[in-house]
Amino acid sequence: MDERALKLAVLISGRGSNLAAILHAIDAGRCSARVALVLSDRPDAAGLALAHARGIASAVVRLQDHVDRGAWDSALASRAAEAEPELVVLAGFMRVLGPAFLARFPHHVINVHPSLLPLFPGKSAPQDAIAAGMRVSGCSVHVVDSGVDTGPVIAQAAVPILPGDHAEQLHARIQRVEHVLLPRVIDAIARGQVALGPELRVHAQADPDSTLYSLQENAD
Ligand code: GRF
Repeated sequence: MDERALKLAVLISGRGSNLAAILHAIDAGRCSARVALVLSDRPDAAGLALAHARGIASAVVRLQDHVDRGAWDSALASRAAEAEPELVVLAGFMRVLGPAFLARFPHHVINVHPSLLPLFPGKSAPQDAIAAGMRVSGCSVHVVDSGVDTGPVIAQAAVPILPGDHAEQLHARIQRVEHVLLPRVIDAIARGQVALGPELRVHAQADPDSTLYSLQENAD
């Protein structure tokens, strides 16, 4: 294991295909990171099996086991902090984080979302993009703030919306690029090409072999 690699806590609620993509990219030497903890709000999240299979620490912190949302948010933050992550990655985590969690990891929580933000925030992004008559959608990796999918965008990748697409088909197409972009962004953060802080700074050059990535130098 590369001890210099960026230490991650990954939060999931479901399938965990983005978690799998991160682990695959780490194994392939394309992502200078290591997953120290997988946290879920749901015991039935299929992605937890991935953590178990690889001997990665995991924990479930359910909302319904706490007196209110604030207590749950604090418990989630405390459990994440035990792993001392340098970056928290929301990879299909379907709940909104509260102030206690965000205060524990200021500017160091990122999320992957299946639209080109700021268009189509929320839970039905692929459906919403189709309904709006878009011909292009994609995915965004952004810094998490107190809003729903509103934090500063770090990078995006585009995919076409094809005639007759259903939300599931579009989401599957978007996920294929999520699985490339999210590990790429984590690697860029690990290498200092993206500086997280009160002001987001993106210093990485766009991938010259691809038109998909928006990791590029700031204009300033
Ligand atoms: C992804 O499409 C992500 O954009 C959204 O939730 C989905 C999670 O998928 N936030 P998976 O659990 O990583 O397969």
